[in-house]
Amino acid sequence: MQNKVQYLNYHPDVELARRILEFYPGTPRLYLHSFGCQQNVNDGELLRGVLAGVGFASTDTTEDADLIIFNTCAVREHAEQRVFGNIGALKALKKKNPRLIIAVCGCMVQQADVVEKFRASYPFVDMTFGPNSIDLVPQLLYEKLSGGKRLLCPPNERTDIVEELPAERNSGFKAFLPIMYGCDNFCSYCIVPYVRGRERSRRPADVLREFTALVQQGYKEITLLGQNVNSYGKGLEESVDFSDLLEQLCAVPGDYILRFMTSHPKDATRKLIDTIAAHPEHLAPHLHLPVQSGSDRILKEMNRRYTRAQYLELIGYAREKLPGVTFSSDIIVGFPGETQQDFEETLSMLREVKYMQLFTFIYSKRGGTRAAELPDPTPYEEKAQRIAAIQKQQEELLEPMMQARVGSVQRVLVEGEGRAAGTLAGRMDDNTLVQFALPQGVEAAALTGTFTPVRITGARLSMLTGELA
Ligand code: SAH
Ligand code: SF4
Ligand code: F3S
Repeated sequence: MQNKVQYLNYHPDVELARRILEFYPGTPRLYLHSFGCQQNVNDGELLRGVLAGVGFASTDTTEDADLIIFNTCAVREHAEQRVFGNIGALKALKKKNPRLIIAVCGCMVQQADVVEKFRASYPFVDMTFGPNSIDLVPQLLYEKLSGGKRLLCPPNERTDIVEELPAERNSGFKAFLPIMYGCDNFCSYCIVPYVRGRERSRRPADVLREFTALVQQGYKEITLLGQNVNSYGKGLEESVDFSDLLEQLCAVPGDYILRFMTSHPKDATRKLIDTIAAHPEHLAPHLHLPVQSGSDRILKEMNRRYTRAQYLELIGYAREKLPGVTFSSDIIVGFPGETQQDFEETLSMLREVKYMQLFTFIYSKRGGTRAAELPDPTPYEEKAQRIAAIQKQQEELLEPMMQARVGSVQRVLVEGEGRAAGTLAGRMDDNTLVQFALPQGVEAAALTGTFTPVRITGARLSMLTGELA
């Protein structure tokens, strides 16, 4: 396939920044909130970085903001409703501060009907722009400030990859690093391919450069992002797959853990598992491998392009090669036409795999997707009962798995103070939450952002508890 992606480098425009700042008497303030997945959170960090480059300071209250940005998610109806609710609440602010600009960006406004809804029913929304326009935001903002008119950009299909965008990261030790954008898989229920456009990969040298810089800045956990990291490299000039990329990154010396998501089971290979096995110092024996359903009939309707048997074969290979490997998954219940029989196959799948973490969702109809056309006779109450049954079974399965860790010593990346007073909390290599007592005379800040060995002394469903080993 011919690679039509253009690779651009971001250069801050000093003159444009100067002209933007002329509209404000002092330092303008940005309030930005990101909804949705890690990719969106990362986009928010880039957006904040780009606007900091223009001269915006951040604020965490909407009341004193000059620019409010909601970076939105469209994956389920509930996510969209939350955004509409939050934005509705801003109307009064606009009256208090006529200079205030309200912008909505991200996945929701990559749908023409949503942009139309903002145009028709939310007159106080001044700007919309999609996730492919972050580098263009200073220009858009200037147009809005100088022209005055609302600037509701229609969805765009831009496929350029813009390197060198400045990120203002939320954490000093955990970083997201996108390696690809978009999605070509068109799972029948999913809106992402429509709002994020076609799949395209960053060049390995660009990923490696950013990764090396993060390690040098002291980042301890770096999560590679893509809707399907296992198809990384398609369309690039050089022949490189995801495992090759991991090899290149793991060669960077340093004290860090490398995570990635999401790994689509249809493209997860034995080579990937062998690569994880070869780099225990940087790659955790853990796979987020969203199965969605345990029924072959439903998997086919979902267009997931693997069978239950193929999925389990991969799990088996990982268990063979990676001692202590753990898995996590996403599950959709109530996909159109899912029968009680199909649902029970999902329950039995969970019993076979025994996931450490499960993210469960009730199917949400997304306009324009193929599944939206399917008959969906199951009442919502029945779907709600199914998700409750899944969660109950998962708790029963999880309990002994958490208990089995009591007595072991685990490497924990400390994230900060725990919920209980006098404790610290962090994550094990496989993402399990651990809370442990802050030793006498040690400052929380001294351990935050470091790898610390913790002896596990207790287990609850949602987390382990322990003490410094
Ligand atoms: N690219 C990732 C998933 C991104 S969306 C993958 O393929 O695994 C995250 C999760 O949201 C999905 O795994 C799925 O479980 C859920 N999801 C996506 N669309 C949904 C919908 N229409 N209704 C309910 N859940 C959905
Ligand atoms: Fe959606 Fe499927 Fe793409 Fe994941 S792989 S983003 S579920 S279409
Ligand atoms: Fe949501 Fe867009 Fe991510 S739809 S899940 S924010 S890619």
